[in-house]
Amino acid sequence: MPIMSQSNLHTERLALRAFVTVDAPRVQQLAGEREIAATTLLIPHPYGDGVAEEWIAAMPDNVAAGRSYEYAITIRETGELIGATGFRLRSDWEQAELGYWIGVPYWGNGYATEAAREMVRFGFEELGLHRIFAAVFANNPASARVLQKAGLSYEGRHRGSVKKWDEFLDTDSYAILSSDGRPHLS
Ligand SMILES: CC(C)(COP(=O)(O)OP(=O)(O)OC[C@H]1O[C@@H](n2cnc3c(N)ncnc32)[C@H](O)[C@@H]1OP(=O)(O)O)[C@@H](O)C(=O)NCCC(=O)NCCS
Repeated sequence: MPIMSQSNLHTERLALRAFVTVDAPRVQQLAGEREIAATTLLIPHPYGDGVAEEWIAAMPDNVAAGRSYEYAITIRETGELIGATGFRLRSDWEQAELGYWIGVPYWGNGYATEAAREMVRFGFEELGLHRIFAAVFANNPASARVLQKAGLSYEGRHRGSVKKWDEFLDTDSYAILSSDGRPHLS
C-alpha cells in the first residue's frame, strides 16, 4: 500500500510539496501562532527553535517506512508556504489519519478545503487506502466544515477524550471509505 517516495500534488490554487530544511523558519513563524496550537494536539506552544528543523528532518524516513506523509501547502502562483497537511498511516489497516493547519493570515480562503480534498484523492487513488479519518476538537467548527467539504462524514463524539492545556475536551470523529465514492464537490 505505501508508496516510498513523495511526489508533488496540485490543485487549482495550491501546490503540495515535500518540506525542505529551509522551510523551517517559516513553519516556526506560522505554526508558532497560538491559534494553531489551540486546536491541535501535536503542535507545541511556544514553538521553540529547532522544532521545525527536527520535524522536517524526520520526514524522509517516515515516508520511506510508510509511517506518514507531510506536505507543505504552498500558493501555486507565488510558491509562498501557507500551511501543512499530512497523513499518519495505519498501513496494516490501509487507513490514514488526515491532519492540516493553515497560517492564520490565510484563513477563510478555502485553502484547507482545497488541500484536504486533494489529500482524499491522493489517499484513495494513489495510496489505495480503504479509509481516511480525522478527529477534531468539538470546539473547532472550521475544521469540521473542512472535513465535511472534503467528503468525510461525522461518526460520533468522544467525550472528554483529550486533555488540552489542562482542559478535557470532546473530539468529533470524521471518516470516508473508498467505497463511499468521491465526494460531491460544492
Ligand atoms: C481549521 C483550518 C485548517 C481551516 O483553514 P481555512 O483555510 O480557513 O479553511 P477553509 O477556508 O477551507 O474552510 C473553513 C470553513 O469553516 C467555516 N468556518 C470558519 N469558522 C467557523 C466557525 N466559527 N463556525 C462554523 N464554521 C466556520 C468557513 O465558513 C468555511 O466553510 P464554508 O466554505 O462553508 O464557508 C484553520 O483554521 C487552522 O489551521 N486552524 C488551526 C489548526 C487546526 O485546527 N487544524 C485542524 C485540526 S483537526
